[in-house]
Amino acid sequence: MQVTCGTDIIEINRIQKSIEEMGERFLERVYTPQEIAYCESKKMQKYQHYAARFAAKEAVFKALSEQLKDKYAIEWRNIEVLNTLQGKPKIDLLGIEIPSIKSMDLSISHCKTYAVANVVMLID
Ligand SMILES: CC(C)(COP(=O)(O)OP(=O)(O)OC[C@H]1O[C@@H](n2cnc3c(N)ncnc32)[C@H](O)[C@@H]1OP(=O)(O)O)[C@@H](O)C(=O)NCCC(=O)NCCS
Repeated sequence: MQVTCGTDIIEINRIQKSIEEMGERFLERVYTPQEIAYCESKKMQKYQHYAARFAAKEAVFKALSEQLKDKYAIEWRNIEVLNTLQGKPKIDLLGIEIPSIKSMDLSISHCKTYAVANVVMLID
């Protein structure tokens, strides 16, 4: 069993610019419908939440071992970040099964300018 971690930090502006310039095309390439619904519900602050989810997906890629990255073709929308009733974010892999991942945990933080995400995985 191996413990791996991945981290990512992103400028909120960068994500805001991509959404403003590419609109639906960007959103639908990167985010699942439930993620979009969650971020849109945040109204004025939505870019912070979109950026945090982008960082979370990058952090998942970083936490995956090289062998797993090579074995599975993982795309943005295979990684979904939703929140528990208490607000804690969690990762689900959609449309892809990676049995060797035994557990994953995610923590997110964001402010006006940056979003950051950390992922820890237990890989068999
Ligand atoms: C929930 C809480 C941790 C969010 O912190 P914040 O500084 O307001 O906001 P941040 O930008 O750092 O974090 C926001 C993210 O926290 C995450 N979050 C929310 N509730 C959470 C929870 N119960 N557990 C873990 N993560 C949580 C979410 O991912 C959220 O981002 P998202 O909505 O885009 O998914 C905070 O409001 C809180 O309740 N803190 C409790 C503090 C406390 O009880 N201190 C006592 C001494 S320890």
